[in-house]
Amino acid sequence: MAVERTLSIIKPDAVAKNVIGELYTRFEKAGLKIVAARMVHLSREQAEGFYAVHKDRPFFNDLVGFMTSGPVMVQVLEGEDAIRKNRDIMGATNPKEALAGTIRHDYAESIDANAAHGSDAPETAAQEIDYFFKADEICSR
Ligand code: PPS
Repeated sequence: MAVERTLSIIKPDAVAKNVIGELYTRFEKAGLKIVAARMVHLSREQAEGFYAVHKDRPFFNDLVGFMTSGPVMVQVLEGEDAIRKNRDIMGATNPKEALAGTIRHDYAESIDANAAHGSDAPETAAQEIDYFFKADEICSR
């Protein structure tokens, strides 16, 4: 299985619940390494750019409003099968459908405020990592 990198965001609702460390523990226990990290309060422009693929969706404005409502923690996770592993740890987009023991089951309130983001494919992971980090800000190990 190939070593991959994926972009993870701990969203404003989970940061407000003070569970950054709890989520980091889940990543690390699954064998994922945090190789870059930054806390940022996204501007509207940054959030719109990050979610540009969804700009025509009915929820776009609400999503941008939510993602700019407070600071987020952005990190690059590295490990074997990192993209799928991170999505398994997060659980389904809609917390009502998320399996017990997943981040969204345990911490998300709704499909709008759903605690975490994770890249969904190698191409999007590369784009999303580039969106937040320069190459020399990632410490592969
Ligand atoms: S989809 O429908 O497959 O494109 O959805 P998905 O890629 O899983 O999620 C799109 C992102 O938008 C956020 N969001 C919503 N999705 C669907 N419906 C509603 N109402 C909604 N509101 C917000 C969702 O959490 C996804 O965000 P990220 O950060 O990518 O997880």
